[in-house]
Amino acid sequence: MKPIKVALLGCGTVGTQVVRLLDEQADDLAARVGAPVELSGIAVRRPDRHRDVPKHLLTADAAGLVASDVDVIVEVIGGIEPVRTLLLDALQAGKSVVSANKALLAENGGELFAAADESGADLYFEAAVAGAIPLLRPLRESLAGDRITRVMGIVNGTTNYILSAMDETGANYGETLEEASRLGYAEADPTADVDGYDAASKAAILASIAFHSRVTAGDVYREGISAVTSADVTAARTLGRTIKLLAICERVDDSVAVRVHPAMIPRSHPLASVNGAFNAVFVEAEAAGQLMFYGQGAGGAPTASAVLGDLVAVARNRVHGGRGPRESAYAALKVRPVGEV
Ligand code: NDP
Ligand code: HSE
Repeated sequence: MKPIKVALLGCGTVGTQVVRLLDEQADDLAARVGAPVELSGIAVRRPDRHRDVPKHLLTADAAGLVASDVDVIVEVIGGIEPVRTLLLDALQAGKSVVSANKALLAENGGELFAAADESGADLYFEAAVAGAIPLLRPLRESLAGDRITRVMGIVNGTTNYILSAMDETGANYGETLEEASRLGYAEADPTADVDGYDAASKAAILASIAFHSRVTAGDVYREGISAVTSADVTAARTLGRTIKLLAICERVDDSVAVRVHPAMIPRSHPLASVNGAFNAVFVEAEAAGQLMFYGQGAGGAPTASAVLGDLVAVARNRVHGGRGPRESAYAALKVRPVGEV
């Protein structure tokens, strides 16, 4: 059987775990896909610094790798450019894309889906929201026949790690943020985590899928945790509460309202016991009622698990002729401007 050739863009916290899983599970993946899944190349900024991956696969020429004879692009670089251009080129050429990049999907998802629809390629991004937790596919597929009214929860591991440590041990904000970066939870620029941009991107993606709309990060009311002090955490505890950074996406009449901000929640609430880099998301739908999704929201291996799941899906589609989600799924509700949330 002809192999599915994969180009990996980025080999940092997530990418190294993708390489490991592809190698360790090669036989199982081939059986699940119906063809071998072959890593054809790995694009990084500084190939000389990557001693743990086969040298012959490494290149600094990401555009050249995308244009080469590959079927699927797995993108774990992050940020908008040059990734946006690389992925548009790939999709326009009919190559399927798997990405963990919430910033790009929240900002340019419409443009990427349009390119995918035009060429018939697939675009999957389960790892972009809530790490290992299977969340986007259940929202898009399992609940497709229901009417979702609310999606609410903790979607950023770094800020939850910081707030949990401040609450549990009185840890220092700055030192805990450094630890979250060392553990591979934080974004390359951790301002994205602590100022709520990362959670806002994830909330935009969740709202787009849950409400069949196109919501961008700019539509999301956003407050981060950088102004939360030890005194705030202590005051919350005195009141029998704890502070969590929440993302809240709601259907309000015929429109969508999305916001991200810290909130004091009662210690008896299930979200109060979500600690460390774990995430938890509640989904409310008219017929299904309330559902809760919980698991590791950040870190190399958990995120690579979600990336590999998407890779199996797009590879299967290429072998057996299926198609992933399309832009036409995004259609209906109005998005409330930030000031009206
Ligand atoms: P890292 O910073 O650890 O890795 C980024 C990788 O991209 C590095 O290998 C870097 O190369 C490479 N890179 C950067 N710029 C370029 C470029 N212009 N061309 C080619 N390669 C480039 O990031 P993470 O692995 O933590 O995150 C990657 C993506 O996954 C991001 O979108 C992030 O938001 C997302 N994500 C991360 C999670 C996590 O827990 N870390 C969880 C869920 C999603 P070099 O090593 O040579 O510098
Ligand atoms: N920086 C992100 C977080 C990574 O802490 O949640 C997972 O998306």
